[in-house]
Amino acid sequence: MSSPKIEVPFLRLNEDHKLNEQLANCCKRVIDSGHYILGPEVLNFESQFGKFCGTKFCLSISNGLDALFLALKALDVKPGDEVIVPANTFIATWLATSHVGAKIVPVDAELSSGQMDPALLEIALKSHKNVKCVILVHLYGIVGQIEKIKNLCEKHRVDLIEDAAQAHGTVVNGVKAGAWGDAAIFSFYPGKTLGAVGDGGALVTSRPEVFESVKMLRNYGSQKKYYHEVIGYNHRMDEMQAAILSEKLQHLDSWNQIRAEQVSIYIKAFTEISQLGTFKSEADFTAWHLFVVRTEKREGLRSFLQEQGIETLIHYPVACHLSEAYENLNLKVGSFPVAEEIARTCLSLPLGPHLKASQIEYVADKVREFFAAN
Ligand SMILES: Cc1ncc(COP(=O)(O)O)c(C=O)c1O
Repeated sequence: MSSPKIEVPFLRLNEDHKLNEQLANCCKRVIDSGHYILGPEVLNFESQFGKFCGTKFCLSISNGLDALFLALKALDVKPGDEVIVPANTFIATWLATSHVGAKIVPVDAELSSGQMDPALLEIALKSHKNVKCVILVHLYGIVGQIEKIKNLCEKHRVDLIEDAAQAHGTVVNGVKAGAWGDAAIFSFYPGKTLGAVGDGGALVTSRPEVFESVKMLRNYGSQKKYYHEVIGYNHRMDEMQAAILSEKLQHLDSWNQIRAEQVSIYIKAFTEISQLGTFKSEADFTAWHLFVVRTEKREGLRSFLQEQGIETLIHYPVACHLSEAYENLNLKVGSFPVAEEIARTCLSLPLGPHLKASQIEYVADKVREFFAAN
């Protein structure tokens, strides 16, 4: 007999009432302070998050896309330069590259991890002569073969930016995501592993000149009020988001731990299902943002799970090179077969501290039930 239906939401951001109360107190503290932009909350959050990542510097930024754009600007990526990006990523990685006028050079993923394939990166580095920088994305929270990739970047004298928008807390060889590259960015979009109550982002680096440059660029190109040294932007994060993120940062390690335990339930439950692929992580610790499976029967599985009360999402249904926005690149179907296969077959299962282990076990049971019958 099948188990009774249980609701398993993909995400619920407002149900931890104790936390909501703490966050409301943060908002009140900021409102009462009368200081709303680039004040003590921002400084405090930057110091805490820099420590969390193990980098010398951290700057809060309006959002992850802006942080990526500023990282490219600070590393002096100019129109006509080439930037290597993963074919399997969220489109923000590509957009930031387009916004600085650089040429996108996509590199496909390894199917085992979903992350950039270092062998293909090496080919791209050898065949493209104007590469200024590589953006490596730690998609789903998995950090791929970063040591190999860092070595390749050093060998070819190109900068490495980590897009760690989905990897707050992943550790490889004792080093946190964000501390490997010349610069790294994070997103605090509400649904992220560490999320604001609005938009937010950060750039971390241990290179003083990158820090100084981004600090000016995010604030009208100015160090001293009304004195403008470069053509800057307004890409600051506000005090309210900083106060909230400092509060939530204190819970991040325990939330990541819950996610890791949930993933081990899924992985154990799925080992015998030949029709289901999962992505492997070889990190010391993986801060799973998403748990993504791959199956040729995605639509069937998705509607079966929905009938059972289980919400799923697709990250992401269209590979960047096939999206309308990048039609002008003229990259046809088949150009990046692994990214295309992932886009066609991937499905994200519910994960996160809003769920109990019993709900994860229910999802795992229902996935098994589906494949036993199909
Ligand atoms: C891999 C990746 N890069 C960049 C971003 C951009 O972050 P944001 O939405 O804060 O601009 C996101 C998140 O949306 C992301 O998942």
